[in-house]
Amino acid sequence: MYNEKVVDHFNNPRNVGDLPDADAVGETGSFKCGDTMKLYIKVKDERIVDVSFQTYGCGAAIASSSMLTEIVKGKTLDEAMQVTNQDVAEQLGGLPPLKLHCSNLAADALHNAIAEYRKKQEVAGKG
Ligand code: FES
Repeated sequence: MYNEKVVDHFNNPRNVGDLPDADAVGETGSFKCGDTMKLYIKVKDERIVDVSFQTYGCGAAIASSSMLTEIVKGKTLDEAMQVTNQDVAEQLGGLPPLKLHCSNLAADALHNAIAEYRKKQEVAGKG
């Protein structure tokens, strides 16, 4: 059902766990299945210098989160905002159609984390 790349990211997830000195955290959940995800980002000069995730979900959600962290590490916030669930699924070599919604979680959590970071900057008068 899953290709080798997906299985690898599920069995050996990259950047898993919380990030104690994160600048922002994005949370999201799926109405379809109840799975949830948290994505932590550390930002320096508008660039994501570190990122990690915690996912309580299916294998596709875990593999998507893991792949997403690899895609966005080192990207600027603007570049990271452009990353879509299709990008994540493509980089994974595709997901079964029934599992495509799982890659939404990762992209949504990332976008929420960036929105949270920007809100904090605004409040601090740095936005
Ligand atoms: Fe819930 Fe995949 S089945 S995120």
